[in-house]
Amino acid sequence: MSQLTLNVNGQNHSVTVSDGSMPLLWVLRDLLGLTGTKYGCGIEVCGACSVLIDNQVEHACVFDVTSAVGKKIVTIEGLSPDRSHPAQQAWIEHQVPQCGYCQSGMLICAAGAMKAGHHGAAIASEIHNLCVCGTYPRIKQAVAKL
Ligand code: FES
Ligand code: FES
Repeated sequence: MSQLTLNVNGQNHSVTVSDGSMPLLWVLRDLLGLTGTKYGCGIEVCGACSVLIDNQVEHACVFDVTSAVGKKIVTIEGLSPDRSHPAQQAWIEHQVPQCGYCQSGMLICAAGAMKAGHHGAAIASEIHNLCVCGTYPRIKQAVAKL
């Protein structure tokens, strides 16, 4: 057992894990109750588990929790307190989600691209996540003015 402190969405959390190589995704969802970040493939393909770690988009399904210690983790729950992040506003305006399962990962990738200084179509080109509902055209519309 290891006790670790994680900074998630601006708050420090103490967690006890049985294995330091546990994926960050399990800790976020099962220990901290932050279920907005989703599990899809588990092999870094779909992007459903995307989170920001020190402003970089990372796949929480393969990011071991010990490597996240001392870094700033942002999940979909921490993007804004009230859906006011420009990407969230654009998603609402363009009614992007269908089933919604992939969308927290999509939004995190859009936010990460914006943090990296990208705008418009350049944001869309940074999003490689999978959406089985095929919302890609609406994502392109939503990011066009960001
Ligand atoms: S669940 Fe992590 S990339 Fe698919
Ligand atoms: S909105 Fe359903 S998987 Fe993307």
